[in-house]
Amino acid sequence: MRLSSFFALRLTSLVISALSLPPSASAQDRTTEQGEAQILDPTVECSPYQYPPVDNAQSNFPSSWTVATILPGDSAAQAKYQSIESLILDIPPKGKQPGALTGNFAGVTYDSNDPDCWWTYSMCTSPNVSGIPNDIAELPEPNILGYGFDDGPNCSHNAFYDYLLSKDQKATVFYIGSNVQQFPLEAQRALTDGHEICVHTWSHHYMTSLTNEQAFAELWYTMQMIKLVVGVTPTCWRPPYGDIDDRIRTIADALDLTTIMWQYDSDDWRGIGSETEVDNNYMNLITAAQNGTFSTSGTIMLTHELTNFTMSEAVKFYDQLASAFSYLVPVGVALNVTAPYVEDGYTLPTFAEFSGSGSGDTSDPSASGSSDGSVTNGTSGSTSATSGNSTNASNSGAAKVSFGHVGSFASAVVLIAGVQFML
Ligand SMILES: *[C@@H]1O[C@H](CO)[C@@H](O)[C@H](O)[C@H]1NC(C)=O
Ligand SMILES: *[C@@H]1O[C@H](CO)[C@@H](O)[C@H](O)[C@H]1NC(C)=O
Ligand SMILES: *[C@@H]1O[C@H](CO)[C@@H](O)[C@H](O)[C@H]1NC(C)=O
Ligand SMILES: *[C@@H]1O[C@H](CO)[C@@H](O)[C@H](O)[C@H]1NC(C)=O
Ligand SMILES: *[C@@H]1O[C@H](CO)[C@@H](O)[C@H](O)[C@H]1NC(C)=O
Ligand SMILES: *[C@@H]1O[C@H](CO)[C@@H](O)[C@H](O)[C@H]1NC(C)=O
Ligand SMILES: *[C@@H]1O[C@H](CO)[C@@H](O)[C@H](O)[C@H]1NC(C)=O
Ligand SMILES: *[C@@H]1O[C@H](CO)[C@@H](O)[C@H](O)[C@H]1NC(C)=O
Ligand SMILES: [Zn+2]
Repeated sequence: MRLSSFFALRLTSLVISALSLPPSASAQDRTTEQGEAQILDPTVECSPYQYPPVDNAQSNFPSSWTVATILPGDSAAQAKYQSIESLILDIPPKGKQPGALTGNFAGVTYDSNDPDCWWTYSMCTSPNVSGIPNDIAELPEPNILGYGFDDGPNCSHNAFYDYLLSKDQKATVFYIGSNVQQFPLEAQRALTDGHEICVHTWSHHYMTSLTNEQAFAELWYTMQMIKLVVGVTPTCWRPPYGDIDDRIRTIADALDLTTIMWQYDSDDWRGIGSETEVDNNYMNLITAAQNGTFSTSGTIMLTHELTNFTMSEAVKFYDQLASAFSYLVPVGVALNVTAPYVEDGYTLPTFAEFSGSGSGDTSDPSASGSSDGSVTNGTSGSTSATSGNSTNASNSGAAKVSFGHVGSFASAVVLIAGVQFML
């Protein structure tokens, strides 16, 4: 057990803006994934745009950045929840809302034996409850890095995604439902570019603080929003701040979501003022890779597509990471998850196919995975660039009232079982 630990606390507040698109935007095609992907001015990229399939479905989803609950009259969500309710481990929510929603667990008393395998308390990733798989924090193949980014889709990620394309590098992206709702064309780009999309909840709150129904709804509506916008339903997720316990694990497992954690933390969310510290965190991982730390199992580092800074750090250290590790792979590739989505027709290569180390696998005509780790539409054998909803060109480019948000950071001191935590 640690005595103290540092955590991010991102307070995301909703700003309702009634801004018209800036004049320069009218020259841009903001109705298709391909058009939107060409915009490189962050101000234009991050200004709101209209996307009728999402706008028309607004009443089927919770409000952006608010804690999700099952919407009245949503019989599909209600039925699913009722069907899994008996599987949910009977542990009370941690702390008290609203403070606990943002990680203030003040006043929580918790058994120091860590009965709930509460990551925020002990970094536990091996559930105590039976029948639930361990969280994925390390990877079975040696000398590999599970390459991924949290908190997207960032509205200004085009330069970064262009960079990844230039390196033919695929990643696992952990998308927030509210961001997908606000920037659907940016979310579609992940599939088009061949990245693996996982869930990162609807409103990015501390999951262990939520009621069973809220925790379910945070996952459920993010899965539904990604399905609506991108056309696929993810099978993996990462809890914001890593805040998971066995109760939340049983909910995620009942939704067939694999929990992806990490072993190394870049702390890149701390921002440009912490550049030295973030650089050191990257260099520590690179040094460890070079000195054989991962000679028996690969690892995962927590990094974000949250801001220009976090994406710039990823670019800054890309070449060094790529040479220190044997492979940088989407997490699903490292785990041989050949069917990353619920829907048929999308495949990832096995690790052997990806690394070219497969014995005979490559001659298997049914092995439709692309060797670069990208998600492939196996029906056509082509990459997913033309699948999903990325070819939709029918939307109008008119300005509209939409949502934007600002992120900010705060810190809180928390007392758990007499141990002071800095969150
Ligand atoms: C693990 O869970 C069981 C009940 O499922 C409980 O009795 C036990 O105390 C838990 N383990 C720890 C270390 O608390
Ligand atoms: C996206 O495409 C899928 C089929 O791939 C379709 O079922 C879904 O309705 C589409 N969503 C939107 C928002 O167009
Ligand atoms: C390898 O490098 C890491 C990171 O600098 C360090 O923590 C670790 O002790 C080193 N291990 C060996 C065997 O040198
Ligand atoms: C994306 O990054 C930009 C630039 O750092 C930032 O201003 C914006 O808030 C981010 N947006 C999202 C949706 O993450
Ligand atoms: C960061 O912002 C600068 C200035 O707008 C831009 O040139 C650069 O491409 C951005 N980097 C990333 C990774 O988004
Ligand atoms: C992935 O498949 C390879 C064989 O191709 C195997 O060695 C490895 O253990 C598998 N990994 C997992 C996580 O199943
Ligand atoms: C895969 O591609 C084929 C041909 O382009 C298309 O008919 C099919 O709908 C796609 N499948 C999915 C799941 O998008
Ligand atoms: C394209 O958008 C229109 C509405 O603007 C929608 O009716 C249609 O289903 C969409 N098609 C795809 C493939 O996304
Ligand atoms: Zn996050």
